[in-house]
Amino acid sequence: MFTRPATPEDSLAAAEVVRLVYEEFGFTWDPDDYHADLHDLAGSYLDAGHGFWVAEIPGRGVIGTAALEIFPPIAGAPGLPTEHGGITRIGGTDCSLERLYVIPDARGGAGTALMREVVDEARRRGRKRMEIWSDKRFEAAHRLYGRFGARPVGERVCSDPDQSPEWGLVIDL
Ligand SMILES: CC(C)(COP(=O)(O)OP(=O)(O)OC[C@H]1O[C@@H](n2cnc3c(N)ncnc32)[C@H](O)[C@@H]1OP(=O)(O)O)[C@@H](O)C(=O)NCCC(=O)NCCS
Repeated sequence: MFTRPATPEDSLAAAEVVRLVYEEFGFTWDPDDYHADLHDLAGSYLDAGHGFWVAEIPGRGVIGTAALEIFPPIAGAPGLPTEHGGITRIGGTDCSLERLYVIPDARGGAGTALMREVVDEARRRGRKRMEIWSDKRFEAAHRLYGRFGARPVGERVCSDPDQSPEWGLVIDL
């Protein structure tokens, strides 16, 4: 297994990774709206100042995904939940982890490697605080985030089709 920056040609494979994990958890796959970004990695991430990585197994192809979104610091008390643009965000964050998914039978190392890519790139770009919103049922992810120093600071209901309950976590970079 290795990780690498995504290319526009990875869009289909990246979307398929996330779709398989949604199927595993019985969540609603929403290609036209909530998951539309995955079908256009160039427009959504690579050409938009963000980052996207894939994990790949030689001979098998893409088995994992992760993204870094960059944005101006969110107003509000650093590290605390705050209302911003009609949703709950975390004050003082200036980047976020997005779309961390590994297909079920390829887990055990890929998630950590992808998270490392995202955190390292955020630090290289001089970001100060990373925001993570994560479905409360994704318990393996929360252990992983903890190993990167993430601390839970809030909760909200996601705007996805399932209205998923989420924990909000922050990493001081
Ligand atoms: C969260 C997720 C991406 C983690 O992927 P992963 O490849 O399993 O992640 P890790 O690299 O941390 O490995 C997971 C476990 O294997 C262990 N591990 C790490 N490297 C390993 C290796 N080389 N061999 C065996 N085990 C290993 C880790 O210690 C970890 O143990 P834990 O679950 O008891 O904490 C994956 O579980 C997933 O896609 N979950 C569903 C979607 C999700 O939760 N996404 C987060 C959205 S916010």
